[in-house]
Amino acid sequence: MDVITRETRFNRVRSWILESGAYIRNKMNDPLTIDTKSKPKDLVTAMDRKVEFFFASKIKRYYPEHLLLGEEGYGDKITDSTGTIWVIDPIDGTMNFVHQKQNFAISVGIYEQGVGEIGFIYDVMNNNLYSAMKNNGAYKNDKRLKQLNENISLSKSIICLNHYWLSENRLVDEKIMHQLIKDVRGTRTYGSAALEFAYVAEGAADAYITMSLEPWDIAAGKIIVEEVGGITTNIAGEEIGMLDRTSILTCNPSIQSLLLKNYLLKAKK
Ligand code: IPD
Ligand code: CA
Ligand code: CA
Repeated sequence: MDVITRETRFNRVRSWILESGAYIRNKMNDPLTIDTKSKPKDLVTAMDRKVEFFFASKIKRYYPEHLLLGEEGYGDKITDSTGTIWVIDPIDGTMNFVHQKQNFAISVGIYEQGVGEIGFIYDVMNNNLYSAMKNNGAYKNDKRLKQLNENISLSKSIICLNHYWLSENRLVDEKIMHQLIKDVRGTRTYGSAALEFAYVAEGAADAYITMSLEPWDIAAGKIIVEEVGGITTNIAGEEIGMLDRTSILTCNPSIQSLLLKNYLLKAKK
């Protein structure tokens, strides 16, 4: 793709995201229509659907040859990574959207033949837009994000993870994870995978470890984290594909091998 096409696309997506965000903020105090999906904890609102429908309509109009992989069902049936694929989570952190009215994001990743080209994560209520184009750096609003510090130690790191890691679970021995909690400076859990990727990219957190994410939770974040020198794999340290439903370790490269060797691989069931 030539530079002008890529920049036009980037600017268009940016304007659609800002428009959707302003719409959500305007409607924030309206009553919500809430449904559940796979289980009672799996929430979806009319707003999730509306935002995805907005993007699906725009993509169809401006890029009819592109495909959409979206969480809420307005996309295409995608079986391989051929072509240009938009991977969209209209609201990442729906539980936060419903309960807290903050800490949720719109996440858009655009992939060409399986390679991430453009990524956006929009923290709607704080009006912070994280973005990246492959090989062009990552930004928070208009400010370029720095490359991640290569020399941080685990004892000075903040790790994002949720509490499932510490209770009995199917993936890892929780006792080893208890040790990790003791060894790091601090832990955080935000309830929006996209925002947790964004925090790793801006160095506000040093790693985000999670048991199972869908492609739309990962797509934009992976691109943005890569642009600042961060690494994203599964919790066995293996590369992930853009259509995978997978565990995730995304982090500053200086702590990746320690996190894998001393904790995640050791704890693997
Ligand atoms: C969820 C959030 C949450 C993560 C879940 C995701 P949703 O996305 O990112 O932080 O732990 O695995 O499903 O459902 O709010 O879009
Ligand atoms: Ca999500
Ligand atoms: Ca969602």
